[in-house]
Amino acid sequence: MRVQVAIIGSGPAGLLLGQLLHLAGIDAVILEQRSQEYVLGRIRAGVLEQCMVEMMERAGVAQRLHAEGLVHHGFEILFGGERHRMDLHGLTGKDVTVYGQTEVTLDLMQARASAGGKSVYEADNVSVHDFDGTKPRVRYRKDGREHEVECDFIAGCDGFHGVCRPSVPASALTEHERVYPFGWLGVLADVPPVSEELIYVSHDRGFALCSMRSRTRSRYYIQCPLEDKVEAWSDAQFWEELARRLDDPARARLVTGPSLEKSIAPLRSYVAEPMRFGRLLLAGDAAHIVPPTGAKGLNLAASDVHYLSQALIEHYRSGASRELDAYSGRCLRRVWQAVRFSWWMTNLLHLFPENGSFGRKIQCAEFDYLTSSRAAGTSLAENYVGLPY
Ligand code: FAD
Ligand code: DHB
Repeated sequence: MRVQVAIIGSGPAGLLLGQLLHLAGIDAVILEQRSQEYVLGRIRAGVLEQCMVEMMERAGVAQRLHAEGLVHHGFEILFGGERHRMDLHGLTGKDVTVYGQTEVTLDLMQARASAGGKSVYEADNVSVHDFDGTKPRVRYRKDGREHEVECDFIAGCDGFHGVCRPSVPASALTEHERVYPFGWLGVLADVPPVSEELIYVSHDRGFALCSMRSRTRSRYYIQCPLEDKVEAWSDAQFWEELARRLDDPARARLVTGPSLEKSIAPLRSYVAEPMRFGRLLLAGDAAHIVPPTGAKGLNLAASDVHYLSQALIEHYRSGASRELDAYSGRCLRRVWQAVRFSWWMTNLLHLFPENGSFGRKIQCAEFDYLTSSRAAGTSLAENYVGLPY
């Protein structure tokens, strides 16, 4: 097979890139190691920045998002029993949209199928070659047969555990990492959310988050020890622990029910630099990971794809390489802003017993500042709704 761009990974980054390239008349294939059903079954992020919503519009896949997504003008922080509303719209003029990553993925998969885009699911042993020259190649195994794709560029959209980043010589890559000493235990349930808006909770027993996917489907998280096994948490234990971290009004409105999905995600900040190696370009989780606290992971995948699609479109329209050359630097500038914000919000809201009473007092002072200074509130709000591309 010969294509212009070989995209590795059919997560939001790969699918969004595939759609934008298709609209620009650029020929691409998406190679994904899992089945379509498996990719759609993964429950992940749920909050979209306005810029990402606009990208979905440009990609021609925002119809259901606008019909079913919930536009949120703010969210609440419940800190040590005190509630404070962050008025995102009032502080920035922007909003966020609650729409699950699963739905984003489904909309993009359906658009690709109706456009007749080439996709190979359950592609085994994907490997990338010769990206330091002008004729990169990708090999994979499907139904017991070996295949090879010749292309001009490889887009590494294969997530944190993918094959693209490890294929780069270690000497060409600089990695920066922070691993947090706890995880998030998440539950998805068909029960109405406790509140119209999200509630981020900082409690003496640890962080909690009340989020949602719709008016009838809730997504809740609680901070848990890294060693915990999801099997050891019954639904009843989860609801009991969540309730303990809420205040009386939220507890009174909490509706419990059987979990549709339950999982533990470790928290990590990670950046690999640069994001381009010759004709291999990394995008999304393949290049960076943020702790979920600021709801930035999915949105960063989208901003990388924005820069990458622009660069490839410029290359095929005019032969220029200015945007390709600027790709890594442009992405990393925005990536580091989101890494800083996610790290900051994680530090503000989680329980870090190793930081002692000093650490908690600093968190209290930070919250006090946030709620008494419009400048501090605006700083949080403009990062949360997303910095401009
Ligand atoms: P991915 O979605 O990981 O997609 C990569 C794709 O590449 C996958 O389909 C994978 O199967 C495929 N792939 C991997 N290796 C290969 C290979 N060798 N060959 C071919 N294909 C391959 N963000 C938030 O903002 N809020 C959250 O609550 C949140 N929760 C999360 C929970 C979990 C468990 C995880 C893992 C992430 C979470 N994130 C969250 C982050 C967010 O979901 C990611 O940032 C987002 O999925 C990034 O999209 P992506 O397309 O770059 O990568
Ligand atoms: C969700 C996840 C987040 O990390 C976040 O900050 C907000 C919402 C969610 O899954 O709904």
